Amino acid sequence: MKMDVVGYFNKVAYKWDRMRKGYFGDELRELLLQEIDGFPGLIVDIGCGTGFLTIELARNAGWVLGIDPTEKMMNEAKKNASAAGVNNITFIKAAMEEIPLLSDSADMIFANMVLHHVGKPPTGLREVRRVLKPGGKLVLSDVEEHHKSWARDEMADVWLGFGLDTIREWLGEAGFTEYEVSYSGFNARAVSRSGDICEPAIFIAKAIK
Ligand SMILES: C[S@@+](CC[C@H](N)C(=O)[O-])C[C@H]1O[C@@H](n2cnc3c(N)ncnc32)[C@H](O)[C@@H]1O
Repeated sequence: MKMDVVGYFNKVAYKWDRMRKGYFGDELRELLLQEIDGFPGLIVDIGCGTGFLTIELARNAGWVLGIDPTEKMMNEAKKNASAAGVNNITFIKAAMEEIPLLSDSADMIFANMVLHHVGKPPTGLREVRRVLKPGGKLVLSDVEEHHKSWARDEMADVWLGFGLDTIREWLGEAGFTEYEVSYSGFNARAVSRSGDICEPAIFIAKAIK
């Protein structure tokens, strides 16, 4: 049975913050935040979920737009942002394949652990490039290729991670000429219902428009 991604995240939204701590930790966020140069005017957090990255981005930028197709994840993000006293975030229900922004409008775009849930990543990456300002930067983090097919049914994964060359190829196809894709130094960790462990490497892709 094909897992419905939005249905899955609506179901787990209330406990996602706890689940996420088992999958990947705050050290990944710290590494991603290091990619911010200066004080960007507008950062977009694609697939913002419950705000793991969004809230910290907002402390380092003029404004943040968090987009996610899953309403209940964003409801949690709104609660988390308000508890953190952060009020420069707009949350909009939308997907990576159709970002509700004008072309050339964002200084930076982040997408953490989103791409493996996206049906057509090349479409999403083209859309990211459209929305970035010339000179703007994409920071995309996700898992490298693995073979744990239970992740499709148990975690709504559409892709079992990605080969780094595939990511490079898609970034090139999206029109990026300046990019770098490498291992982050961290691995994710998930355990199946039957106790099988998946610990794929986490990569970071950085691209400048
Ligand atoms: C694994 S969670 C990661 C959430 C958050 N980025 C974090 O680091 O905790 C994946 C998120 O991507 C969202 N998502 C799924 N498909 C998407 C799409 N096509 N475009 C944007 N976000 C999507 C889900 O609703 C979910 O909130």
